[in-house]
Amino acid sequence: MEVAVVDHEAIVAGDVRAAVRRVPTSDGERVAWYRGWMMPSAAYSRLDAALRTCRVRLLTDPSAYQAAHELPGWYGTFADLTPASAWTPWEPGRTPTSAHVGALAEELGGGPGVVKDYVKSRKHEWHEACFVPDLADIAAATRVIGRMVELQGDDLAGGIVVRDFEQFMHHTDGYTQEARIWWVAGAAVLITPHPDAPVGATVDVPSAVCDTVGASVRALGAPFVTTDVAMRSDGVWRVIEVGDGQVSDLPAVEEPVLLMRALVAGADGVEVSRAGTRR
Ligand SMILES: Nc1ncnc2c1ncn2[C@@H]1O[C@H](COP(=O)(O)OP(=O)(O)OP(=O)(O)O)[C@@H](O)[C@H]1O
Ligand SMILES: [Mg+2]
Repeated sequence: MEVAVVDHEAIVAGDVRAAVRRVPTSDGERVAWYRGWMMPSAAYSRLDAALRTCRVRLLTDPSAYQAAHELPGWYGTFADLTPASAWTPWEPGRTPTSAHVGALAEELGGGPGVVKDYVKSRKHEWHEACFVPDLADIAAATRVIGRMVELQGDDLAGGIVVRDFEQFMHHTDGYTQEARIWWVAGAAVLITPHPDAPVGATVDVPSAVCDTVGASVRALGAPFVTTDVAMRSDGVWRVIEVGDGQVSDLPAVEEPVLLMRALVAGADGVEVSRAGTRR
């Protein structure tokens, strides 16, 4: 595999020429996966455009990135498999009022909920900025959502999401027992613990779960995605979130070679499914 380094800070800052200055240009078009830090969807679009000037085409195009990366992009495809959610676009730094929050919470009815932006939560500030004990308590929900928006600061991605809370199986440290399924060209290529799982945590995802989740992954159409799954306390497996695989964290204890091999093989598969013919 040929590897080139792009400058993440330059991409995010909008300096696309600097971002790709270490990417060699060639005569023929080459295809590529990105592997690195998360970036806003607009920044990914800029990276895509800059790489094209080097005759490199990202296999995950900007619309596929956004669909996998942001909850409103993937929610509809996974609606039967994931907690009910409502969202609204939101400007970073703007304080939500109880009227805004009331309209969102109303879509879900009462009961416990969790809040995040289109991409990330403040799960480490669970009681302060993530968990709402009862969405019917608009004053409390407004406090938690307001704090989430405040803590995300300029990094608030896209908008505000409110989700029904579901009880999942958890580790002794309190974190949900989540497995991350890695999908390349619609096939499950690797299952790892969630990167935040305690070292030594094992994952055992029934193959029927992969079949069900895989159907939604293929419907989404993004070529390299992750799905974080967990068993609810009633035994039903649920998708907690979907992510773009390019920016998903691989737990440090995992051998990257399995994923890299799948990406090399999968690049070919993606080309086949797009173009209909093998190059
Ligand atoms: N609807 C829900 N019901 C119960 N718990 C939830 C729900 N949504 C999220 N959680 C809990 O909160 C954690 C963080 O949520 P989520 O994965 O959506 O946010 P994140 O900040 O993107 O996390 P990550 O670190 O995986 O990127 C989950 O790992 C899970 O334990
Ligand atoms: Mg998560």
